[in-house]
Amino acid sequence: MNIKQEILDILISASEDLNTEKLSVVFSNRPELCDYQSNFAMLISKELGEKPIEIAEKIIKNIQKNQKKAQKFQFSAVLPGFINIKICDNALSEFCNDLIHDENLGIEKVAKPRKVFFDYGGANVAKELHVGHLRSPIVGEALKRLHYIMGDVVYSDMHLGDFGLQMGLTVLQLKIDGYLDKFFEKNADVSKISLDNVTLDTLNDEYPKASKRKDIDEDFKKQADEYTLFIQQKIEPYYTIYKKIRDLSVEEIIKNYNLLNCGFDFCYGESDASPFIDKTVQIFLDKKLAHESDGALVVDVAREGEHIPIPKKSEDEPQRYKNPMPPAILKKYNGGDLYATTDIATIMMRNKDFSPDEIIYVTDNRQSLHFEQVFRCSKLAGISPEKQKLTHVPFGTMNGKDGRPFKTRSGGVVRLKEVVGMLIQSAEKKLSDNGIVGDKELARRIGVGAMKFGDLSNSVAKDYCFDIDKFLAFDGKTGPYIQYTIARINSILSKVDFKYGDVIIEENEERDIVINILKLNSAYQISYDNYSLNSLCLATFDLASAFSTLYNNHKIITEKNIKKRDSLLGLCVIVKKCLEKALWTLGIDSVDKM
Ligand code: ARG
Repeated sequence: MNIKQEILDILISASEDLNTEKLSVVFSNRPELCDYQSNFAMLISKELGEKPIEIAEKIIKNIQKNQKKAQKFQFSAVLPGFINIKICDNALSEFCNDLIHDENLGIEKVAKPRKVFFDYGGANVAKELHVGHLRSPIVGEALKRLHYIMGDVVYSDMHLGDFGLQMGLTVLQLKIDGYLDKFFEKNADVSKISLDNVTLDTLNDEYPKASKRKDIDEDFKKQADEYTLFIQQKIEPYYTIYKKIRDLSVEEIIKNYNLLNCGFDFCYGESDASPFIDKTVQIFLDKKLAHESDGALVVDVAREGEHIPIPKKSEDEPQRYKNPMPPAILKKYNGGDLYATTDIATIMMRNKDFSPDEIIYVTDNRQSLHFEQVFRCSKLAGISPEKQKLTHVPFGTMNGKDGRPFKTRSGGVVRLKEVVGMLIQSAEKKLSDNGIVGDKELARRIGVGAMKFGDLSNSVAKDYCFDIDKFLAFDGKTGPYIQYTIARINSILSKVDFKYGDVIIEENEERDIVINILKLNSAYQISYDNYSLNSLCLATFDLASAFSTLYNNHKIITEKNIKKRDSLLGLCVIVKKCLEKALWTLGIDSVDKM
């Protein structure tokens, strides 16, 4: 039963020969008066030359004339011309009793499911995961799950940063520090040599060391560039060493992301696109889209009118434009591939393997220019078909309480593992206040859930403040509050062996719960349209707090009227299911005790 659609259908048929293109209904902003409202009469009054209230009254008269069946809705016209709609209790009860058996809990799926490919997580091999790597998996995972709930077919790929300069830097530094001697011995059989003297800790020391040195030592940087090229061209022993470092790193990355409930269908990396790079570059050359500039191969992506045209040197030369949109670089001065090259080649690879309708990239907002360039290049070259949507979802920075990017006390980078550790520790403390000790997994679920909810309840594009105490509060707009509500319902239901009866809505507090379920269900669509989970978080919280009001005012288990008790229990089941589904979508675990 789609309540909103039923209301719309009634209004449309009562509008008779009016043009109903502009007819819509929204949730009422005066909930004490009605549940939905429509400003249709106001929108069309000018073109009809009639007063809005008269149009509204006419529509309502028509509804009353046509209404034969038992009434589900009450319509009224109010000045200056609103149509107010109140859902009758019997319709709300029917909605609940249907919902309990509906797998998607009344959430409307998209009319046309699409294949959507998610690119998020984006960790870099050899570099340790730090706080800066939190938002992409958190937001990406939730968006992916949201699309799944809405009926799309989803794929996810971590798109590891595994082919860039950091690889050359790391191998070079390891070599200088003597870790790789065996690989460089004469006639060494590289496939037989193991890298067991190198651990994650070694990498965590070596890469930062190399990264610092490249900024002050020109020769070192040049050599690292060369090593990077060797790796990209699969030259031994560099390539084998690189592969081993990659494996070591990826294992650790997956473990860390699993702690955050983030799972990927694929852990492809930039390097997996390498078989497509030559073909990619060739297309740009064949279509005369790329040209040489200072030894590099570049593509002008600025659009006509957007920028100043550069005078053509010959007739068949494509028109080029000056900055501010800088050209995308496909090949470096030394023939090395760049971030943009692998991203364009990756689109070619994904289209060959999956031909998705949309590819969604979740990275921080500093990469906006990069993606704009990559998207423009891919469209220009026809590597991404015209109808394919390429979307960058840029997110803001996670700041500390001082409003600056979150750092350690001494100003250093906070490792991702440390953040998760902090969250678990704080959750353990909170749990022990409630008499629960020694349950680390429960503490992880609560701690990580707290952070994820804290993150996702902000609009994705904005910076937000990481505040463990606020995130972990058991009351307020927090993850733990939602988890707590579910745990509370679980405890009620377990006392009656999870039995319940038909739901009969008759009190305001019950109505309020159902209206909040309707709002939650529409928040899925809003979040889907906005590529941001904040509406879903807010609506989830509103439902949980509507339930708390009911809970505080009713003794559910000891209710004497059995019909009433069983109905309340049915409502409990519905709220639990709706909250669990919303948390699942956000990538947050439910818990059964707290
Ligand atoms: N590895 C990149 C980084 O750390 C993120 C990858 C995002 N995805 C992509 N297809 N470029 O910035």
